[in-house]
Amino acid sequence: MTMAPQDRLIVALDVPTRADADALATSLDDEVRWFKIGLELYSSEGPELVRDFVRAGRRVFVDLKLHDIPATVGRATTRLAGLGAGLLSLHAAGGKAMMEAAVKAAAEGAGDGERLKILAVTVLTSLEQSDLGDVGIHKPIRELVVQRAQLAATAGCDGVVASPHEAAALREALPEDFLIVTPGVRPEGADFGDQKRVMTPGQARAAGADMIVVGRPVRDAESPLAAAKAIAGELRV
Ligand code: C5P
Repeated sequence: MTMAPQDRLIVALDVPTRADADALATSLDDEVRWFKIGLELYSSEGPELVRDFVRAGRRVFVDLKLHDIPATVGRATTRLAGLGAGLLSLHAAGGKAMMEAAVKAAAEGAGDGERLKILAVTVLTSLEQSDLGDVGIHKPIRELVVQRAQLAATAGCDGVVASPHEAAALREALPEDFLIVTPGVRPEGADFGDQKRVMTPGQARAAGADMIVVGRPVRDAESPLAAAKAIAGELRV
């Protein structure tokens, strides 16, 4: 998908408080447009932080991975769209009707601003085949990822969150304008942390990722700005 290179990087604000989030985001504002507010930060600072980030001209990915009955997910999506967030995640495992409810709420909640885009998580990258077996799912993970991504596209979602190792297969199986967003990205030489199967930003992009999510390699760098610049440099293709 055609996109400005700066729009391809999302920095995960995996920090506990508003003070930490403000400090990190402010240090990155010259280079980074997108910030991901996940369960930790949303649980401590909530909607007000999203609103304030949007007011400050930042774009926000609310990574709440919703999974509930369609009515509840639809209503929550209406609220999140009203905050001005640009991206929201949900679990494709919640089913087609649940995803459709979110897509509809996002379309209706757009107002004058840009519409909230819905991203589906196919299979959590923390799960292995045996974990799926434990919850009664016996399909090979790769097939399940593609099946759920295709369901998400049919339901009207804007994209998926996936491992960079799944990006190429997904790119082939999905419409061209369907967003592939990949965490699990590490610049050359960086600490892997608990991410096991990583790619560099450039490799992820070459594999078909439209946007990448990076957390610790930026947050924990001596200079987060320099780290973000180096990563963004790899995405200018
Ligand atoms: O620090 P790191 O770059 O590993 O952070 C990646 C971010 O992406 C974290 O916020 C993590 O919760 C998120 N994420 C992930 N794997 C997924 C979905 C989200 O690592 N499958």
